[in-house]
Amino acid sequence: MEPKKVYIGMCADLLHHGHINIIKEGAKLGDVTIGLLTDEAMATYKRLPLLEFEQRKAIVENLKGVKEVIPQPTLDYVPNLRAFKPDFVVHGDDWKTGVQRKTRERVIETLKEWGGQLIEPAYTKDISSTKLNKGLKEMGITPEMRMKKLKRLIKAKPMIRILEAHNGLTGLIVENTKVEKDGKIEEFDGIWISSLTDSAAKGKPDIEYVDFTSRLNTINEILEVTTKPIILDGDSGGLTEHFTFMVKTLERLGVSAVIIEDKIGLKQNSLEENGNAQEQDSIQNFARKISEGKKSQVTDDFMIIARIESLITGKGLEDALNRAKAYINAGADCIMIHSKEKTPDEILEFCREYDKFENKIPLVAVPSTYSQISERELIEAGVDIVIYANHLIRSAFPAMVKTAESILLNQRAHEVEEKCVPISTFLDLIKKNL
Ligand code: SPV
Ligand code: MG
Repeated sequence: MEPKKVYIGMCADLLHHGHINIIKEGAKLGDVTIGLLTDEAMATYKRLPLLEFEQRKAIVENLKGVKEVIPQPTLDYVPNLRAFKPDFVVHGDDWKTGVQRKTRERVIETLKEWGGQLIEPAYTKDISSTKLNKGLKEMGITPEMRMKKLKRLIKAKPMIRILEAHNGLTGLIVENTKVEKDGKIEEFDGIWISSLTDSAAKGKPDIEYVDFTSRLNTINEILEVTTKPIILDGDSGGLTEHFTFMVKTLERLGVSAVIIEDKIGLKQNSLEENGNAQEQDSIQNFARKISEGKKSQVTDDFMIIARIESLITGKGLEDALNRAKAYINAGADCIMIHSKEKTPDEILEFCREYDKFENKIPLVAVPSTYSQISERELIEAGVDIVIYANHLIRSAFPAMVKTAESILLNQRAHEVEEKCVPISTFLDLIKKNL
């Protein structure tokens, strides 16, 4: 008689004796095939696994009792189950409640189609994934793992979401803030270290006055308390001969990407409403800066993102598209297109034309002035990375000014107390890394 077919879905990132128990139970019933959740599947549910798919596959393939490992590209078991038609699916009974409840119901319904059965051994006691995750956090992250994460995320998700941080505390907010929405945990995928907010936090204008050494201090502060990938706002990147050093330094630290903008001369923030005319670099010069930067990096993982300012300087769509083509040819890893219009029209127009390119790379948008656009609309337009570039500092600023004013008006701090986090909670928050 043919052995029965047993299917077990798992991610197997933090492998523990609970997994082994399930496999053991499965092996008693027949030949075990593991449906190993891909990065893409995991990214729709929790965080990206620490180990890459191929690494996890190599581990699981070598576990006793495992006959075969196949990818499960969706959280939903149904497509794999219909293709594989197992006699049994084995899963710990912990998924009867919580976010996986619906997935479980679909498994039961689908198995009925050919008389398959769901077997649910009791969830192994004394395993807490919260504790395991905490342990992981304490272990920290290596620069290499952090750097690689950005590319993996871009591949795994329809769009990735980045928020600005300008010091350790705001880094912790980007790292740890989570909300549950429609049964899914939503969080930020990475950190933007903005020239505007890094300068503003130091009380300086955004004119490349805060030098690279000071920027490095901010980067280090954030690196120290976070694990998420970092994209640095590298302003213009400076002289090409200097930019190549910047790339090496950032790569060594584990920063995933630098964005450089094609402006020259005294830099001004792009969103300045009545700013001086900003000069754009020649296509040739900027393309050379990109290609020299690419040549100077040591690994294949670091990314150089070319930021096009044609819509900011008034050069228009044609110029932006020409530059995009040239920068892609020069080796840029992503294109950032920026706008200071109050509506997303010109960005969407760019996206439509960009979509026709044969040779496309991921696209970055920074919806600061056209913030009414939703993530869904950006995804539909073909945007791969959205950066919320300055919102933590901009929201903190009015709150701090109000506090200062209230103390002056009331000549005591009592009135602001209720707007402040209690001191004891605050001490605890930081101790627990928020
Ligand atoms: C920044 O955040 O510093 C940026 C984006 O470069 S913008 O402020 O829109 O120029
Ligand atoms: Mg900037």
